[in-house]
Amino acid sequence: MRLIAMINQKGGVGKTTTAVNVSAGLARWGSRVLLVDLDAQAHASLHLGIEAGPDEPGIYDVLINGSAADQALHEVSEKLTVIPSHVDLVAAESELLRRPDRESILRHALQPLHERFDFIIVDCPPSLGTLTVNALVAAREVIIPLQPHFLALQGLGMLLETATAVSGMLNPALRITGIALCMYDKGTRLAQEVDNDVRQFIASAAPDDVWHGARVFDTVIRRNVKLAECPSFGRTIFDYAPGSNGAEDYGGLAREMLEMASGTARPPDTSDGQTAEGAPAEPSVVPARVVPAGDSGVESAVVREVTAEADAILGSGSTSPADPLAPQLSPETRPAVTPDRVNP
Ligand SMILES: Nc1ncnc2c1ncn2[C@@H]1O[C@H](COP(=O)(O)OP(=O)(O)O)[C@@H](O)[C@H]1O
Ligand SMILES: [Mg+2]
Repeated sequence: MRLIAMINQKGGVGKTTTAVNVSAGLARWGSRVLLVDLDAQAHASLHLGIEAGPDEPGIYDVLINGSAADQALHEVSEKLTVIPSHVDLVAAESELLRRPDRESILRHALQPLHERFDFIIVDCPPSLGTLTVNALVAAREVIIPLQPHFLALQGLGMLLETATAVSGMLNPALRITGIALCMYDKGTRLAQEVDNDVRQFIASAAPDDVWHGARVFDTVIRRNVKLAECPSFGRTIFDYAPGSNGAEDYGGLAREMLEMASGTARPPDTSDGQTAEGAPAEPSVVPARVVPAGDSGVESAVVREVTAEADAILGSGSTSPADPLAPQLSPETRPAVTPDRVNP
């Protein structure tokens, strides 16, 4: 079983489109796929024609009410199953903050389902808050859908920093295994430049970087209007427009994912608490925060983000922290992807 989180804290980059259509592609080739909709906007659920009412069990009940995950499964087809979301999930971020085990709830909830699926794919919300941290703690792999647009790269440093923090504290097996270039305008110089920069950045990763060995997928997802249309019909691209570029591209991406060995080129290090199968081992103590107060290492993107979100929710007036790499990311002064070390 491969548990993959689709993460990019920027909205509108193609996370949901990728999560849904890759899931459908994998299912069409015979894999048993569970798609977990972890976004209160419920776009993945709606894309698959599932409009779960507040009384139907979904991801909120699993995370907050302790419902068993198998009670929240909605079958889309023989091989494709969804745990849907609902707008209720908006409240989950603040409700989770009160829980001591707040970062590990999704991991524990999904564990009983591991044997039933070949892939569990988590469609994350556009933030690095508690829900996304839950996905990072539950997952073994992260795939980053990235729009090859200059601004789309600004948050990459923060995302890598967060994944590094989670890997260091709660989930040593976590690796960024793929970057999928989405909404790709072939033939534009910008797309080509960003594409080159991303590949160069990944190729220069140090062995202990969580993104070491990540694959920048050869298949790029071209901009294709059929991909934008199909969610409103509640259908995947393979059902809605099987002959489209979108179907071809997501078919290619799913195929590349199937071909990938589980995880990265780096074998799991069983000495750091991981099981040989790759399921994250239980941390002996779940810290109250991902990084204890006063930690000077990865000065906790997670804590800053979670705290900022809590502040926003609770109305304390503090604002979200700026991306620490942002000042280095001015178009005049830097390559599209910063090669600077993420972890000071
Ligand atoms: N390759 C593409 N071509 C055209 N439109 C796309 C493509 N990928 C996504 N879209 C559209 O762009 C919008 C944002 O995509 P979405 O997958 O919802 O992003 P995210 O989940 O990151 O917020 C949606 O309306 C979606 O239908
Ligand atoms: Mg989305």
